[in-house]
Amino acid sequence: METSRLTVVSNRLAIAVGQEESGQWTIKPGSGGLVTALGPVLRDRGGQWIGWIGAIGQHPMDEGFLDDLLDHGSRETGYALKPVHLTAEEIQKYYHGFSNEILWPLFHDLPTRCNFDPSYWQVYERVNAKFAQTVAANTGTGDYVWVHDYHLIMVAHYLKTVGVERQTGFFLHIPFPPLDGFIKLPWRFQILHALLRYDLVGFQTMRDRRNFMDCVRMLMPKTRVVGQGHIVRCLTPEQEVLVGAFPISIDFRQFAEIAASQEVQDQAWIIHANLPERQLILGIDRLDYTKGIPLRLKAFANALERYPELRGKVTLIQVVVPSREEVPEYEALKREIERLVGEINGRFSQVEWTPIHYIYRPLSRVELLAYYRTCEIALITPLKDGMNLVAKEFCACSIENNGVLILSEFAGAAAQLQNGALLVNPFDIVGVADAIRRAYSMDENSRRSRMARMRRSIQRHDIFHWVNAFFRAGLHKDLNQFPRVELFLPTAEPSASCSIADEEP
Ligand code: G6P
Repeated sequence: METSRLTVVSNRLAIAVGQEESGQWTIKPGSGGLVTALGPVLRDRGGQWIGWIGAIGQHPMDEGFLDDLLDHGSRETGYALKPVHLTAEEIQKYYHGFSNEILWPLFHDLPTRCNFDPSYWQVYERVNAKFAQTVAANTGTGDYVWVHDYHLIMVAHYLKTVGVERQTGFFLHIPFPPLDGFIKLPWRFQILHALLRYDLVGFQTMRDRRNFMDCVRMLMPKTRVVGQGHIVRCLTPEQEVLVGAFPISIDFRQFAEIAASQEVQDQAWIIHANLPERQLILGIDRLDYTKGIPLRLKAFANALERYPELRGKVTLIQVVVPSREEVPEYEALKREIERLVGEINGRFSQVEWTPIHYIYRPLSRVELLAYYRTCEIALITPLKDGMNLVAKEFCACSIENNGVLILSEFAGAAAQLQNGALLVNPFDIVGVADAIRRAYSMDENSRRSRMARMRRSIQRHDIFHWVNAFFRAGLHKDLNQFPRVELFLPTAEPSASCSIADEEP
């Protein structure tokens, strides 16, 4: 079948629409790994992105005005943007509810944080059907539809329910839980069955794929699994599904190039000049209980306590990017982090040294890369993580090859970076503290050889490698065989009230 166009479908569009206090509408490039990952691919190859425009507050927006905003966004991003509109109830029950109060904690092995409210399920189904309708209306039979992440597991199912035939692929960005976690889900059969309606299902790591296959074998006895290795075939009573592991990555070259720019170098210099004669340890995370921030802060305090020579010689810069603040768990986590930072600083600060610099806001791209470039150590300790692109970005920006990466063994990235990172168990406060001490005193040669190994691996397995691997499995095509098509770009002048802010991490 000839493929004419790539359509990416994700919960969030590649842009975020918002309103300032003055009432002016803004449109910003979206945050998160997926936008970083697929933006360049769609821009270079042509394509479209279907998604929700994000919560836009109390004020309903005139649809014509929204179209103008999205036209402007399309010109900025370089590809077409197709919105899916959600009602307040849908945002509450599909996004905050089923996605972020059920699937998110369950898939991160935290079932006690789940709120299995049955009313969430119906709305999750309804919204997935709505996304499927938008896909059906904006694609043709030859198009390849690539659906992303846990919010939209049912899209292929609903396309098939209404008889719309498309080639479909699904990629899960978060972990897939082990069988004994997954079977707690009251809708386990529906979710598993829906995943097996795609032509290709991709996971971040072999760990996730193994978990998925265990669930299929146990809960779907009529499905036969054929083959072994990188990609296996599942033969269900309805169809054949390919299942593989495709570790996501970053645009290595772009990160390395921007990190080397004068602007980043100047900013990096300013940061270190203000925090002189010490090693800087960077923690940077979206506000999320899966990121292990409180345990990390406790580990840092433990290191200061047990290794007094570190006092005055290391500073932890902990950046937390606001996220999902409407979910009660996240608000409580923010308070806990702030309490711990205050407590640790209160305990260890000296006149000329504050142990933790805490930043609670999104960083601009230049700021972010300046931190990556100037910090000697990155401390990335999620309790569980699909991949963790921050780890890869830090390495890409460590252009002098002298950064040390301390990485949780439960991040998907650990499988790839284990030959260079100091791997830690994030639950082991003493172990993480020891790793901080070890990173601090690591000699120049070890730093360089470890970082060089990681950089080589990430450069080889960059974002284009990831997309290629997925396309090869799903379409038997390389990215460069994906046809270039004329992308429809609206000709209207940008609305005067639009403003594009710096991209967030
Ligand atoms: C994770 C998920 C993404 C999600 C991102 C930000 O990385 O895998 O799908 O977009 O978090 O979360 P949010 O709820 O703000 O979209």
